[in-house]
Amino acid sequence: MRLDVITIFPEYLEPLNVSLVGKARARGQLDVRVHDLRAWTHDRHHTVDDTPYGGGPGMVMKPEPWGEALDAVLAEGPPEPVVVVPTPSGRAFTQELAEELSGRSWLIFTPARYEGIDRRVIDDYATRLDVRELSIGDYVLAGGEAPVLVMVEAIARLLPGVLGNADSHRDDSFAPGPMAGLLEGPVFTKPPEWRGRPVPEVLISGHHGKIARWRRDEALRRTSLNRPDLIESCDPAAFDKADRAT
Ligand code: ADE
Repeated sequence: MRLDVITIFPEYLEPLNVSLVGKARARGQLDVRVHDLRAWTHDRHHTVDDTPYGGGPGMVMKPEPWGEALDAVLAEGPPEPVVVVPTPSGRAFTQELAEELSGRSWLIFTPARYEGIDRRVIDDYATRLDVRELSIGDYVLAGGEAPVLVMVEAIARLLPGVLGNADSHRDDSFAPGPMAGLLEGPVFTKPPEWRGRPVPEVLISGHHGKIARWRRDEALRRTSLNRPDLIESCDPAAFDKADRAT
């Protein structure tokens, strides 16, 4: 998979050299290219922003550098890229979207600073490309670079061969399957007792059916506590079916 990021803070994307994403790059599973937006400015001060039409606080990113940067990057890669525009005003970036995007061969991220990018840039590319405006949550960050790190990590770990164990995301919170819609429950490792706290007995029982049932109950408990909104959209019939299978 190829990933391009166009930003005024290339150094903000340094973490893409570390850990899971860094290793996927080193193995050639991810081709990540970070571009400095200011390379496509032509004035002495490398200006990327200007005052908003209609007045108001803050600055808006100028369309010309973005247009030139996107044209230059688009000329290089495989066909049918998805352009991802991180913005708090976008659609929610979910596990489902991470899965969809992990199936694409080329993603171009355009993290903005200030009040965002001149609207005409998004409208223009949306006439010929798949452009997604995505938010990572209901809060406002100073720029889109941290959201890019979040989205790239969520997407990259789903690529075949990137996680050591292909089953690792089977039980993830938000993963499809018998626990769909539930948060992942608690996990334990050795020693069997720590500070007087034993590991739940069922987990040492070796009874796979009971363990699966316990995990499901814990997932339900945690979900009703932390995310009651998710319980609404669960399918109890799927749980019953999973119980019968164990
Ligand atoms: N830029 C600033 N805040 C953001 C958010 N919550 N999601 C995506 N991009 C953003």
